[in-house]
Amino acid sequence: MQSRQEIAPGVHLISEYNPRIGITFNQYLLLDEQPTLISAGSVQMVEGIRRCIDEVTDVRGLRYIVVPHFEADECGALTTWQGLAPAVEPVVGAVCCRQLSGFGLTNRVKVVEDGEVVELGRMRLRCLTVGAEMHLWDGIIVYEESGRILFSSDFFSQRGETPLQGPAFTESLVGMFKMSMPSPAKAVALLEKVRGLSIRMIATGHGFPITESIPSYFDAVGMACLS
Ligand SMILES: [Fe+2]
Ligand SMILES: [Fe+2]
Repeated sequence: MQSRQEIAPGVHLISEYNPRIGITFNQYLLLDEQPTLISAGSVQMVEGIRRCIDEVTDVRGLRYIVVPHFEADECGALTTWQGLAPAVEPVVGAVCCRQLSGFGLTNRVKVVEDGEVVELGRMRLRCLTVGAEMHLWDGIIVYEESGRILFSSDFFSQRGETPLQGPAFTESLVGMFKMSMPSPAKAVALLEKVRGLSIRMIATGHGFPITESIPSYFDAVGMACLS
């Protein structure tokens, strides 16, 4: 069952641990003039996510859903949300847009380019295209500029029901990062892109938000991908 926690002003982490797979599945609700959900979750998750959203806002008022890439846990419930929130607009990359359309799921999407900003009010989501995500299809991640939070989707995720400690945390993070990247060159390109941002928190799609020693995780991932 999902739980909700406000991890920054107006930023709510909605999370559920799946013991079979050994990871958490996270969504983020951003409460601003344009309420936004980051990651749609799968259809099996909708009820729990909705219950968490209802605690703080009316789900019918959702304006955007950021879909990092075309995979069940990131976009499985997308059309369900479109039924619940009439004005909601999925924010997607070009490849995801093609899948959503081609599978007959939806054509009502907002396709973003690298660096494009989606204004939510106080918050601004800068969209970063990711050259080939884990299934070799390009995805996006978003950086909220006012709170300096990178919503990194599968990147920088970690395993476990509770945060791993010390080297085990780094090892899990590096392992999942490498699994998500098809080549060292792609990994280096992504790292270069995020290193240029002033990041206060990495809010991951799985695992736990990272607020400390962020440059050291960039270094660890960079070294592992090149070795
Ligand atoms: Fe994924
Ligand atoms: Fe994921």
